[in-house]
Amino acid sequence: MVDPILKRQKFIHTLKTVEACEKFRSEYHFPMKIVVVGKGGREHALVKALADSPSAPELFCFPGSDAINRIASPIPVQNMDDLINWMKANAIDLCIAGEESYLVKGDGLANCCQQAGIPCWGPVKESAQLEASKEFAKNFLTRHHIPTGKAQTAQNLEEARALIGGIYPTVLKFDGLAAGKGVAVCPDEATAEAFLKEVFIDQRFGAGRLLVEEFLTGPEVSIFAAISDNNYLILCPSRDYKRLQDGDQGPNTGGMGAVASRALIPQETLTRIEQEIVRPTFLGLKEDGLSYRGFLYFGLMLTPDGPKVIEYNCRFGDPECQAVMPLLRGDLATFCHRGAQGELDSSLITFAEGWSVCCVLASAGYPASSHSGDVIHGLDTLQQGYVYHAGTKWDPERQCYLTNGGRVLAVSVQAPTLDEARRLAHQEAAHITFDGAQRRTDIAFATFER
Ligand code: AMP
Ligand code: GLY
Repeated sequence: MVDPILKRQKFIHTLKTVEACEKFRSEYHFPMKIVVVGKGGREHALVKALADSPSAPELFCFPGSDAINRIASPIPVQNMDDLINWMKANAIDLCIAGEESYLVKGDGLANCCQQAGIPCWGPVKESAQLEASKEFAKNFLTRHHIPTGKAQTAQNLEEARALIGGIYPTVLKFDGLAAGKGVAVCPDEATAEAFLKEVFIDQRFGAGRLLVEEFLTGPEVSIFAAISDNNYLILCPSRDYKRLQDGDQGPNTGGMGAVASRALIPQETLTRIEQEIVRPTFLGLKEDGLSYRGFLYFGLMLTPDGPKVIEYNCRFGDPECQAVMPLLRGDLATFCHRGAQGELDSSLITFAEGWSVCCVLASAGYPASSHSGDVIHGLDTLQQGYVYHAGTKWDPERQCYLTNGGRVLAVSVQAPTLDEARRLAHQEAAHITFDGAQRRTDIAFATFER
C-alpha cells in the first residue's frame, strides 16, 4: 500500500513554483526533507544549523556519523546511485553537498539529482571542476582576469624541474582532488624534489599533471559566497589555521581551527575582494555557461599587491563552517532550498555580530596517520558553545565517544569580542581530553595583520 504521507509529499514536487510548494507545505504542516552529504565536522555544523532553522526540516545524512545521526537520520544505502534512488523514493526535497568528492564522482551528485528532479545545493560536475582541477581553475582565473599567482603546468618530472627553474620558494600543486594533501610549498630544492617524487614516481595521488605556481605571501582569508544562477551573496568571512603546530609550524593539515566574524577583515578589503574576485568569478561562470547553485569558497591571500585567489572550493570550508554556522541567524534550510531552485533569497539569513572561534582536537599521528579507539573524556563538561564531531564513534557498551579519525572534534565558542571568544574556546577545548590529543593553543591569537 502506498504511504499516504509519502504520496502527499510526492505531490508537493509536482507543484510548479517554489511559492506553491511552500504554501502547500505550511498548510499541511509537512516539514521539508533534507539530505546532507558528508560525514565530518563541517557536515555536523551544517546539519545543526539546518536543525536550528525555523522551518524545522526533517534531516537525513549520508554517510553521516554517530554524532550527526543524533540530529539527522542515517540513510540505509552504500553508494551514490542508491542514495539518489532512496531520495527519489522518499520524496526528499533538497540535497545539500557538504563534501566535495561526490560532486565529481561518477556523473556528479548535482547532475544525478537534477536528472532525478531533486533540488541540489552544490554545483554540477562541470562547474565543480573549479575545485577538482587546479589547472581548470587557473585557466578560469586567467581568462577572467581575476588576480591569482602565475602558474604553468608540467606533464612530467623533467618539465616540472624546468618550470621551477631553480627558483625557490616555489609552490607545487597536483592537478586533482587530493584531500588537501596535493599542495607543497617548497622552500628549497630538497622539498621540491621530495614532492615531485611523490607525484610523478610514487604517483601517490594517481596519474596527473602538476601546477608550478608563483610563491605568494600575506595572510590568508576564507571568503564564502552562496551562488544561485543570477545572484550571489557573500557570507561571513573566516580564517583557518592549516599548520599542525603553534606559530604556523609543522605540516599542513585540513585545518586545526578557525576564527570567523563579520569584522574579521576591514570593509574596504572586503569591498575590494568583492569587486576584484567574487563578482568577476560570478560573471565568469555565467560567461562560460557554467551553472552554479551552492556555496563557493574563495581561498585568498592578502598579498602586498592586493587579494589573490589561492584556490576555489565548491563547498563550505572545514573547519571554517564550524566557526561560521553558529553566527548564522535566519532560515538556512529555506535559503538553501530556494537557492537550489534558482532563487537566492538573501533576506533569509544574516550573521550575528561578534566573534566565533573553533579549536580542533586531532588524534595521535595526524596528519601523517591517525589513531582510533581512544576514549574521549570531558564532552559533558562543556559550559559554552558546541562540540562538532569530525572523527568520532559512539561506543554503545561503554556509553562514550571514541576517536575515529585524524581530526576528531572542533570546539566552537561565540562571544561579543575576539578576546572573549578565543579565551573561552581554548578554555573549553582544554577540558576535552583523549590519549595523544593534538591541539593548537594559538588559534585566533595569531590573527590578521590588522
Ligand atoms: P590549497 O590547497 O591550494 O589551498 O593550498 C594549501 C595551502 O598552501 C594554502 O592554504 C596556502 O597556505 C599554501 N599556498 C597555496 N598556494 C600558494 C602560493 N601560491 N603561495 C604561497 N602559499 C600557497
Ligand atoms: N579549511 C580548508 C578547506 O576546507 O579546504
